[in-house]
Formats: sequence, structure tokens, C-alpha cells
Amino acid sequence: MTGSRVRIAAAALVLAGAVMAGAESLRANADRVGFAIGAAVAVGPLKGESTYGTVAAGEFNLVVAENAMKFGPLRPSRTTFFWDDADAIVAFAQANRMRVRGHTLVWHNQLSAWLTGGTFTRDEMIQILRDHILTVAGRYRGEVMAWDVVNEALGNNNTLRTDSIWYQRIGPEYIDMAFRWAHEADPGALLFYNDYGAELPGARSDAVYALVHGMIQRGVPIHGVGLQMHTSIAWSLSPQSLAANIGRFGALGLQVHVTEMDVRIEDSTGDLQGRLAQQASRYRDVLEVCLASHGVCRALLTWGFTDKYSWLPGFTGHPNEAGLILDKTYNPKPAYLALRDTLALASRPLYRHLPRR
Ligand code: G3I
Repeated sequence: MTGSRVRIAAAALVLAGAVMAGAESLRANADRVGFAIGAAVAVGPLKGESTYGTVAAGEFNLVVAENAMKFGPLRPSRTTFFWDDADAIVAFAQANRMRVRGHTLVWHNQLSAWLTGGTFTRDEMIQILRDHILTVAGRYRGEVMAWDVVNEALGNNNTLRTDSIWYQRIGPEYIDMAFRWAHEADPGALLFYNDYGAELPGARSDAVYALVHGMIQRGVPIHGVGLQMHTSIAWSLSPQSLAANIGRFGALGLQVHVTEMDVRIEDSTGDLQGRLAQQASRYRDVLEVCLASHGVCRALLTWGFTDKYSWLPGFTGHPNEAGLILDKTYNPKPAYLALRDTLALASRPLYRHLPRR
């Protein structure tokens, strides 16, 4: 084994050993308080790197496919589905008694070339989307606890994005249609609207609120809002404001999941240890708000879990961007310890008055 692989394996053993030694994993502590702690997993390392799956199964009770359940990866052609990768992630979750979030049935991104290059009529697009949702949500009926039915329907101007092929070809009704079809396919699944930038009160959160409130008023089956929480230590995040924002979705009768958390540190200056400490505080703040949300916020997932596999370096152009909770050799970062200690504290008798979720 090469040097780095030895180090990775050793780190995983350390993490696993710590778990065995009772230092308690995120999962063990989360299970004790009935909270869902999860991460997005990529099928490549899941299949090709045993440490990846071992650590994921040890630390999380919930997983989401980073890419494998999106339209493009599932749909090589109009008449064929590629299930292998999505099935592998669901099988991994079931083998490790983990729950699954489905991501995502309808998005403007990562679509198939045959769809975006096609000249389908409105009726044909409706048929394509209906068949997709009924087939995918139907295949995983009873196996997916919550679906991001529609992802990022709002553009950066906080109105319905007109660069979505679904908006262009079907119209804004595609959103209600999607939720109704998802509910038809799996009546037991929680149905979420998922978006970025709506974590704190403001114009985008107001737009998400208006969107989901309208759906509720129309009798559309929706159960929650996913707040992606792609954030940075360079951005302010007031726990009080986050709590107020989560609370107003709760007042609609909706749940909230923090669905894709990562905390950038490379868009800030200062010594690395200081930035990692700020990152840890950000993770702690969000988890504490969820645990204190009286059952509104019931899940926190990170978008990946080791800096070795994160979308951030490619997206930000910072090769050293490290937004996640384990470093590239699976060693716990201050952010991991902050989450673990927060969950451990919540599970102590003093906090037992917290409502069971
Ligand atoms: O699978 C192909 C591979 O066959 C090909 O060789 C390679 C090079 O072209 O591309 C591979 O697909 C890439 C895919 O990730 C799988 O790795 C796509 O190019 C790449 O664009 C895609 O990026 C994903 C991104 O969504 C797409 O916008 C990221 O991994 C994924 O983390 C990210 O996740 C999104 C959420 O779904 C929604 N919220 C925002 C979040 C971050 O953008």
C-alpha cells in the first residue's frame, strides 16, 4: 500500500478505534437524541475505497447520493435508466441501517443531452417528467425517507428561474405537478423543496417561503424545506436569525433539513488553525439551532464528509478549499469534534427535556 493509503487506512482505524473505544461517533450520539446526521456520498469512492464507506457508516445514520440519483446520471436515454450507482448507494445504506434522502427529482442542472437537445412539446415534457418521477420515486418507494422533489427552482434574482427547461417547456406548474407525482409514487416519503441561500431571513428566504406557502394553500403535498447551507466563515451567520427563519417554516407545519452543509475557509485570511476554529463554530452553531428547534429541523447533512472528495475546490478554484468535517486523510477536524461534542451534550440528562423527534 502506498504511503498515503497507509495513512488513510491508519486514520480510519483511529477514527473507528475511537468509536469502538467509546469516544462515540456522530452517529451514536445523534441516535441517542433521535437526530438525523448525514452526508452526501459519491459512488466512486464508495465503490473504490473501503475507508470511505467504513467511515460513512460509522459516523452517519443518513445518506444522500451526491449525483447518482439526478436526472442525467439516471437517464442515459429517453427509454433507458442507469440504476447501478443509485442502487449501490441505497444498498450501502440498507446494509448499514442508514436512512436515505433522495436528491433530486427535478433540477435545471445535470440533465441528459437527449432531453436538453430535444424538441419536445409541452405535453411530451410533462410525460417525460411524470414518467421520470413515478419511475424513480416508485423504484425507491419505502426506501427513501425524504425526496428533494424540486431543487433550486429560484434563480439568483429570487424569482422562478426561467433558465430551467422545465419552466421554459412546461411553465411554473411543473413544481406542483412534480410534488403531486412524487406523492403518488411514494405516499410515505417526505417531500421537500431544496434551495441555497435561503438559510437566513431575507429576500431569498422570503421567496422560498412564498413558494412553499402557495403550495400548501393549493393543497400540494409538501412536507419540508431543505436549506442547503453552503456557507463560509467569511459570511455572517447569526444563530438567532437562523432559528427565526427555521421557525417560520415550522409555523407553516413544515420540517426543515439542513441538506448540503459545507463551510468554506479559503475565502478568508488568517492562520489555518484560526480559520478551522471559525469553521467549527459555524458547524456547532447550525447544529445547536437545529437541536433547539423543537423538532422543526430534524436533519443535518454535509455535502461530502472528507475534504478528499468535495465539490468545493473545483467550484471555488481554491485547490486547498476544505469545507468539510474530516480532512483528506479522514482525520477529524475541529468541525467534526464540534458536531460530536454538541450531539453528546444534547444526549446528556440535562437536555433530556428536548422533544423526541
Ligand atoms: O460523471 C461524469 C464523468 O463521466 C465525466 O468524465 C466527468 C468529466 O466531465 O464529469 C462527471 O460528471 C460530473 C459530476 O459532478 C460527477 O462527478 C459533472 O461534470 C459535474 O458537473 C458534477 O458536479 C456536481 C454538481 O452538483 C453539478 O452541478 C457536484 O459533484 C455536486 O456536488 C453538486 O451538487 C450540487 C447539488 O446537487 C445541488 N446543490 C448544489 C450542489 C453543489 O453544486
